[in-house]
Amino acid sequence: MSKNIVLLSGSPRAGGNTDMLAAAFIEGAVSAGKSVKLFRVAELKIGGCVGCGHCFLEKGVCVQKDDIPQVLTAIRQADALVLASPIYYWSVTAQLKLAIDRLYPLISVKAPVQRAAMLLTCGNKSESVNEGALFMLKRLCDAYGWDNAGAVTAAGLHEKGEIAGRSELDDARKLGGEI
Ligand SMILES: Cc1cc2nc3c(=O)[nH]c(=O)nc-3n(C[C@H](O)[C@H](O)[C@H](O)COP(=O)(O)O)c2cc1C
Repeated sequence: MSKNIVLLSGSPRAGGNTDMLAAAFIEGAVSAGKSVKLFRVAELKIGGCVGCGHCFLEKGVCVQKDDIPQVLTAIRQADALVLASPIYYWSVTAQLKLAIDRLYPLISVKAPVQRAAMLLTCGNKSESVNEGALFMLKRLCDAYGWDNAGAVTAAGLHEKGEIAGRSELDDARKLGGEI
C-alpha cells in the first residue's frame, strides 16, 4: 500500500470535473493516512522535452530551467503516481502530456514509485474515448515497472462541476484509500 502519492492533474479548468475527481481521490487517501502532493500542471511552467538526452548523461538532471524539477523531486519521494485529466481529443490534455514527456529523467535515475493510476473525465457517453489514455497508463506501467492500480473514469460530463453527486467520486475516494 502506498503512503506518499504524487498526483499530476492536467485540467486547465480550475474547480472542474477533473479537479473534483482528484479532490475525492485525495480525500480518500488522506482519510487513510496517506500524504498526497498535488500539482495542477496547467498552472506550472513546463516546456516540452527537447530530446537532448542530457538527463541520461547527467544523472537524471534536465537542461531546461522551468518548474519540472519540483515535480521530479516529489516523484522521487513518492511510492505512487496518479495522473488525472479530462479527455481532450481521445487523450490526456497537452498540459499533462508535456509533464509526462518530462518524466524521461526517471528512466536513467529510477524513482521509488511502485504503482500508478488514472482519473479521467470526458464529455462523450461512451467509455471508448478513454482508450488512448488508458493505453498510455498501461504502457507507462510496463516501461517503468509500476503496478497498474487502475483508473476511475467518469463519462458524459460537459459543464464545470457536473460530476457533483456522481458515484465515480466515491470510486475515486475508494481508490485513494486503497492504492
Ligand atoms: C478542447 C477540448 C477537447 C475535448 N475533447 C473531448 C473528447 O475527445 N472526447 C470527450 O469525450 N470529451 C472531450 N472534451 C470534454 C471534456 O473531456 C469534459 O467536458 C471534461 O469533463 C472536462 O473536464 P474539466 O471539467 O476538468 O475541464 C473536450 C473538451 C475540451 C475543452
